[in-house]
Amino acid sequence: MTQLQIDISKLKSFSNEAAWTAMQEEMHQSHSLLTDRTGKGNDFLGWVDLPVQIETEFLRRIQSDAEKIREMAEIFVVIGIGGSYLGSKAVIEALGNPFETAKRGSGYPHVVFAGENLSEDYHARLLELLDKKEYAVAVISKSGTTTEPAIAFRLIRQHIEAKYGKEEARKRIFAITDSSRGALKKLADAEGYESYVIPDDVGGRYSVLTPVGLLPIAVAGFDVCALVDGAVKMREVALKSSAMDENPCVVYAAARNILLQSGKFVEILVAFEPNLLYVIEWWKQLYGESEGKEHKGIFPAGVTFTSDLHSMGQYIQEGKRILFETVISVGEPVSRLVVPDDPENLDGLNFLSGMRLSDVNRQAELGTMLAHVDGGVPNIRLAIPAINEYYLGQLIYFFEFACALSGYALGVNPFDQPGVEAYKKNMFALLGKPGFEKETTEIRKKL
Ligand code: PA5
Repeated sequence: MTQLQIDISKLKSFSNEAAWTAMQEEMHQSHSLLTDRTGKGNDFLGWVDLPVQIETEFLRRIQSDAEKIREMAEIFVVIGIGGSYLGSKAVIEALGNPFETAKRGSGYPHVVFAGENLSEDYHARLLELLDKKEYAVAVISKSGTTTEPAIAFRLIRQHIEAKYGKEEARKRIFAITDSSRGALKKLADAEGYESYVIPDDVGGRYSVLTPVGLLPIAVAGFDVCALVDGAVKMREVALKSSAMDENPCVVYAAARNILLQSGKFVEILVAFEPNLLYVIEWWKQLYGESEGKEHKGIFPAGVTFTSDLHSMGQYIQEGKRILFETVISVGEPVSRLVVPDDPENLDGLNFLSGMRLSDVNRQAELGTMLAHVDGGVPNIRLAIPAINEYYLGQLIYFFEFACALSGYALGVNPFDQPGVEAYKKNMFALLGKPGFEKETTEIRKKL
C-alpha cells in the first residue's frame, strides 16, 4: 500500500444503493465545480494546485531560514490562530516525541504557540519562559488584523525588543501575512522583518502547505519536502477522476453526505494514536468552518482511543444515534515494544506476552469498530501505512479536497466563514472599540 485508502464496508448497511447512485451524480457535479473553478468561493482555490506549484527554490529558502532559526533559538514562538497555527501544530505533534519539548529531539527548537487564545495566564507564563531562553518568533496572520495574534505580538515584540535590543530583535522576527493588505504587512515592511507571503487565493484553513505551516514544521526539524510530495501524490489521485472507485476523496465526501441525509449529523474523527490529537483539531476547524453555515453541516467532533473509550465510549455505544465515526488507522508504528511476560501472571495477561503493543491496539481498534457498528454507529476507515511526513501530506490534501467536494454537495461556500464575525462584533462592542458606539449601547442593554 503506497497511499491512503478508504474503507466504507462498515457503513453499507446504513445506506442504500439508490442513495449512493444519487450521491455519485452530486459528486460528479461537485468535482466539476472544483476543477472548472465555477463553484462558490472560486477565488479561494489556490490550495488545489499549490503542491505542484511549490518551487524547490522556495523550499530551500524555508529550510535555510529554519536553519538560521535553529542556530539562534531554543524556542520558536508561532503566533497565530485558527488556520494560522493548527496545521503546523498538527504536523509537529503527529511526528514528534510527546515526551520531548523539542519534538524532533535535542538540537531543534521547541515550537510553542501564542495568540491562539486570550488567556492572561498562558501568555504571562510564556513570557516567563522567554525570559530564560533564546528565542525567535513567527507572527502569522493572513488578514493581519486578527485581535488574538495582534495582542500576543504586541506582548512578544515588547519582550523581544527589551531582551535583545531593536536591531537584533528584527532579525528574530519572521512575518507571514498577506501580500499587500493589513497592519502586519505594513509593520513588517517598516521594520524590515523577514517576510513570507500567504497567497491571496489560499484561505487560512487550507494554508498548511504555505509558509504558514511549512516554516514552523521545518524549524521543528521535519521534512517539508516529503510533506509536499505526499500532497502532490494525493492531488494527482483527487483530480484524476470523480468516480467513486478511483477517488477516495469522492468516497469520503459522498459517504458523509449520505449519512447526514439519514440523520447522522455528528462525525467523530477517531485516532488510536495520541500523536494525532492535533490532526483531529485541524480537521475539526477545516470541516467546521467550511461546512457549518446556512444552518447546515455535519458537526465535527474528535476522540483519541483507547483513552476516550473510557469516557466518550459509553455515549458513542449507547447514546443518541446521531453519530458516525471516521477512523484514521495507522499501519506501522515507528517503535517496537512487546508486552513482557510475568511469571506470577496476577493480571492474567500472559496470553499477550511477547505480543507487540501495536497488535493489541489494532485488535482494540477492530473490536471497537465492530461494537460501535453493532450499536448503530456507521464507520469509515481511513488507512495510512505510517505516521510520517509523506502520509501526513497525503492526509492533509485528502481532507482538503474532500471538504471542498462535501461543502459543494451541501450547497455552501466551503471557503468563507461569515459566522466568525458575530463574536468579534460583540467583543469589540463590549470593549468599546472606536466606531462601535452604536453596538456598544445596544449590547449593554442585553446584559
Ligand atoms: O480558516 C480561516 O480562514 C480562519 O480560521 C483563519 O485562519 C483565522 O481566523 C486567522 O485569521 P488570520 O490569519 O487572518 O489572522
